[in-house]
Amino acid sequence: MATKNGEILRTVDAAVTEEPPAGPVHLPAPPPAALVIFGATGDLTKRKLVPALYALAVDDLLPEHFTVIGAGRSQLSDDQFRAAMRDAVTRFARLRLDEKVWSRFAEGLHYASFSDRDGGLDGVKLALETADRERGTAGNRIYYFAVPPSGFAPLAERLQREGMSREEEGGGFRRMVVEKPFGRNFATARELNAALHSAFEEPQIFRIDHYLGKETVQNILVFRFANGIFEPIWNRRYIDHIQITVAETLGVEGRGSYYEETGALRDIIQNHVMQLAAIIGMEPPSNFEAETVRDEKVKLLRAIRPIHPDDALLHTIRGQYAAGSVDGTPVPGYRDEPGVDPESLRETFVAMKLDIDNWRWAGTPFYLRTGKHLPSRATEIAIQFRRVPHSPFAGHRAMPGGMPPPDGIAPNQLLLRIQPDEGITLRFGAKVPGQSMRIESVNMDFFYGSSFQRASPDAYERLLLDCLLGDATLFARVDEVEEAWRVCTAILDGWRAHPPDRIDCPNYEAGTWGPAAADDFMRRDGREWRRP
Ligand code: BG6
Repeated sequence: MATKNGEILRTVDAAVTEEPPAGPVHLPAPPPAALVIFGATGDLTKRKLVPALYALAVDDLLPEHFTVIGAGRSQLSDDQFRAAMRDAVTRFARLRLDEKVWSRFAEGLHYASFSDRDGGLDGVKLALETADRERGTAGNRIYYFAVPPSGFAPLAERLQREGMSREEEGGGFRRMVVEKPFGRNFATARELNAALHSAFEEPQIFRIDHYLGKETVQNILVFRFANGIFEPIWNRRYIDHIQITVAETLGVEGRGSYYEETGALRDIIQNHVMQLAAIIGMEPPSNFEAETVRDEKVKLLRAIRPIHPDDALLHTIRGQYAAGSVDGTPVPGYRDEPGVDPESLRETFVAMKLDIDNWRWAGTPFYLRTGKHLPSRATEIAIQFRRVPHSPFAGHRAMPGGMPPPDGIAPNQLLLRIQPDEGITLRFGAKVPGQSMRIESVNMDFFYGSSFQRASPDAYERLLLDCLLGDATLFARVDEVEEAWRVCTAILDGWRAHPPDRIDCPNYEAGTWGPAAADDFMRRDGREWRRP
């Protein structure tokens, strides 16, 4: 550890590159703090939160005497909680359990039960006071709302009533972390935000969208704004259209009743895909401060042309999977999943088109697509460039089968592979060796795996660390969430008014690329979906 300008800095290895080493990377050390996880016996805590915190402990990125207070409705002792979390780390952490790191980390793990009764938060308060006294957490608190969505507003209100949410002059910080769903539509998202704001100021609220914590998503900003050659062509003049795909091989995986309430538009498009669209389409921010970056993202979201509910069917395609086979394994149809209505019309697939009304993107649509039980797992963004305006090769030493017509030369494509197989591919035309001028598309590839030879941290590691540091850049601000709901709510309203035809639902076989209507939708625009 070193100090610079009074700030404590930690040294971690610089990335492995072919270039001369860039020297150590200095990260500011987070201040001491206690993290209260409400919902500590739930799945999120076990699968994501504690494994991510443990990984931060391995990398020595947590503040000294960092304390986690698991808060749940059941009665557990500290030791029982520690044993459950040890099991969680063993099963779900990306790094193997190291006894030395674990025992230091486990010293900071405590449990307090809470209830809705009067005085039901007393155990948590006591644990926090003890942490301040015995572990020096300095009154700094983060509350993680890992509770069901119906519990978000009541919990915020209780923290406010108990005087646990307000930041006092000279006291520690108070932050809250919450994950989607942020409401079910524009109106309920507004209500929820108002309830959160009655307890916490916006800068205290950290809304997690785990896509923003992915290395490859952060790299979109670096790719666009740390390189001089892409930004000048990143606009309507050079780009024909953009496709954002989140394809999953998984089905609803035992979450049938959740999915019945949600569907693909709310589950993936409203949050993850809208965030990706904002990052791909935003203007360059003047710095990397949270408000500057989020101002630019929200401007892009505001520029999305409103879709009137009556036009929703012109701009979107819904799908639901029938029984089929994924990766060679037979899978049941959505309606046969546990917790799903056998006559459900809920969408498990969405394809849609957004128009962006600004100078950069007018006439360059963004096509969005997501689905469950598709043939391969791939989240990717394809930037489809325009064709060459004229091909000088047309008619040059034409040979049968050799020369494509000028408009047959495939346009350039830039592919940002978010996951898996993380990397970037540029497709361009190259001359096929031989006597004729035959042109074929070839790839120029960047793979994270081979360039950096180190595993990327999990999204939650980055996001939890940023919350400890008070850096909200990678969290969704209230206006971003509401703008994304503005677009999606109009579609949901249109869909409700025009439910799918029962004869046409389900309309794609599991293990295929969604309904045929999604292909026709693109064909009508003279375009095609990429097949990842
Ligand atoms: C979650 C959705 O937000 O994202 C899930 O609720 C989905 O349905 C998941 O499977 C996808 O996340 P990832 O990181 O695997 O792409």
